[in-house]
Amino acid sequence: MGVDQFAVTGQAQAVILGIETSCDETAAAIVVRDQSGHGTIRSNVVRSQLDEHAAFGGVVPELAARAHVEWLDHIIAQALDEAGLRLDEVDAIAATAGPGLIGGVLVGLTTGKALAAALGKPLLAINHLEGHALTARLTNGVEFPYLMLLVSGGHSQFVLVRGVGDYQRWGGTIDDALGEAFDKVAKLLSLGHPGGPAVERIARSGDALRFKFPKPLLREERLDFSFSGLKTAVRLQAEALAPLSDRDVADIAASFQETVAKIIETRARQALEQFERLFPGQPKRLVVAGGVAANRRIGDALDTVCRLAGAQLIVPPIALCTDNGAMIAWAGAERLALGADDSLAVAARPRWPLDTPDMVVTPDAA
Ligand code: KG4
Ligand code: ZN
Repeated sequence: MGVDQFAVTGQAQAVILGIETSCDETAAAIVVRDQSGHGTIRSNVVRSQLDEHAAFGGVVPELAARAHVEWLDHIIAQALDEAGLRLDEVDAIAATAGPGLIGGVLVGLTTGKALAAALGKPLLAINHLEGHALTARLTNGVEFPYLMLLVSGGHSQFVLVRGVGDYQRWGGTIDDALGEAFDKVAKLLSLGHPGGPAVERIARSGDALRFKFPKPLLREERLDFSFSGLKTAVRLQAEALAPLSDRDVADIAASFQETVAKIIETRARQALEQFERLFPGQPKRLVVAGGVAANRRIGDALDTVCRLAGAQLIVPPIALCTDNGAMIAWAGAERLALGADDSLAVAARPRWPLDTPDMVVTPDAA
């Protein structure tokens, strides 16, 4: 299949190699998008760097970049191998170009450029957040418009997804991301890293109502989040009780998680109301993305809100909610189908909000 034919018709099948290196996962995947727009994951290889960063209690950017350099070639080779494809059978290369830790983004994007140049195939420079935003179309065939709640270690935001490249951010965090708040609370309770799963595990045996923690910003109408004050309240409570018994730790973890669930519940209800005002009578869909989507208590809160609002809740498999190459390949496939073909001169960006004008797909004339 010729790439030009694809770009013109937007209909032919396309095999996309996706590369993701913006944080602490080195990932590559092969995704095929067929003529009808249906996507299939042929391989999805993720190497987490948890071990490299564990001793530091968080991601160390320099170490992350080095690990990407060391592993990316192997991960790409494995993704091709598992898909049963040779590199020259790939129709386009999609690589994360931001936002993220710039050293890592540079590794993935530069590799993507080199492969695209060597193969004479298009490069798609993908916004990592767009990867999260479009995943539900790959996994569940969700149609536009829909609402996305992205809650990860680096982001907490509602995004209205109106089309490929057409996004509107409805709110975000003014300080810590939600996953970051889980990680910091875990750290101060000495639960290890990453904190989210540890807090959730220990919270199961705790009393969620023992402590009443603040819900910053929640009285305000805007759909923003603030988790830093909550984290400080948790720290002060822990200091007041020190030395902490196992019961104290479990109760603090459970009370923190309960507070977060209530915050998410309120904001999701408001966001769905806003969606209803904008698209009266249309199906309401809420898609969740990011590592925090794994949290059962938060999942239950979203379930309740969606049921009451008559909305459909879509949670892709957790391996596709966290960082992976398939979401980048799929975003590349969606953009390629619209005629996108990025220049090899495209820059890596540490910051890149989703609702910037350059997200709109403009077919490359070159
Ligand atoms: O999306 P992700 O894998 O990586 C990025 O941040 O891009 O998200 C990781 C974050 C971490 O902060 C981790 O603590 C959090 O997601 N997380 C959770 C849970 N599992 C992972 N937070 C709460 N509950 C969980 N079960
Ligand atoms: Zn992410």
